[in-house]
Amino acid sequence: MILVTGASGALGSATLDHLHALGAEAVGGTRMPNHAALRRIDFDDANTLHFDGVDTLVMISAGAAEDDVVIARHGRTLQAAERDGVRHIVYTSLTAAGDHLGFALAHRWTEQRIRRGSIPWTILRNGLYAELIADLLSPRDGTITAAFGPHGVAPVVRDDLAMAAAKVATNPLPHTGNIYDLVGAKTITAAHVAQALCVDFQPTSLEHLRASFDGAGMLPFQPGMLVSIHSAIAGGFLEETGTDLEALLERKPMNALDFIHQTLQGTGPIT
Ligand SMILES: NC(=O)c1ccc[n+]([C@@H]2O[C@H](COP(=O)([O-])OP(=O)(O)OC[C@H]3O[C@@H](n4cnc5c(N)ncnc54)[C@H](OP(=O)(O)O)[C@@H]3O)[C@@H](O)[C@H]2O)c1
Repeated sequence: MILVTGASGALGSATLDHLHALGAEAVGGTRMPNHAALRRIDFDDANTLHFDGVDTLVMISAGAAEDDVVIARHGRTLQAAERDGVRHIVYTSLTAAGDHLGFALAHRWTEQRIRRGSIPWTILRNGLYAELIADLLSPRDGTITAAFGPHGVAPVVRDDLAMAAAKVATNPLPHTGNIYDLVGAKTITAAHVAQALCVDFQPTSLEHLRASFDGAGMLPFQPGMLVSIHSAIAGGFLEETGTDLEALLERKPMNALDFIHQTLQGTGPIT
């Protein structure tokens, strides 16, 4: 049996849907199960971390928190998986190019913990979601503002990452000990998105970006995480494309620029 954690989240729920569509015996784990087919799994509550009967654990990172919180979450979950005899772990991590991002450390800690642990594993190093890039480049008053500099990023549509996770989880053995870098096949810039939407692009500085977060009511870790996405792109660190996703999917990944265009259409004046 396959268990997918984070089953209420966007990636976890899509992975579970793909698993069911592939005919796999799969259940979802989530902090707040709202129907009988879901199990309660909360990485913050050791009492919920029971994996008896689970052959393959698809561990969706729970990364929206400070490093120490995420590390503690992932550490206790892996400990419980080892105790309960899980046979394979598929962990959704972060692209190697994302090492400079503010949320990289907890991912790399988790990878190291998995590699030093006793359960055979596969690590899916997910690129930045096209959904996230669409959100960051959403035009306001007909203008896209970003501190990406002239550089780009190779984003991935989240549903493709979910399909890749589902494919690996249904047949994990050939993927044992493999790390896949699941970045997009094309680099896109803020200017490309502005051109596709027929809106203006106004480059901004990291200083202005930071100032725009003042009084926005963010949690303490959020401004640093967000700024790190812009600064890593502006540093040219996230431009590299890859082919691992296409190989896992056995088809071309969805076109991220088309996806972002469709997502944002209607948010700016179309000329
Ligand atoms: N590559 C990227 O661009 C990118 C962008 C954003 C986030 N991420 C990472 O990818 C993960 C999945 O992305 P998403 O789009 O599905 O995020 P999402 O829709 O915001 O969902 C958040 C996920 O975190 C899980 N979670 C939070 N606290 C948890 C806890 N205490 N125990 C267990 N699970 C917990 C949630 O599980 P339940 O609500 O089901 O319990 C849910 O699956 C995120 O958590 C984050 O680590 C990656």
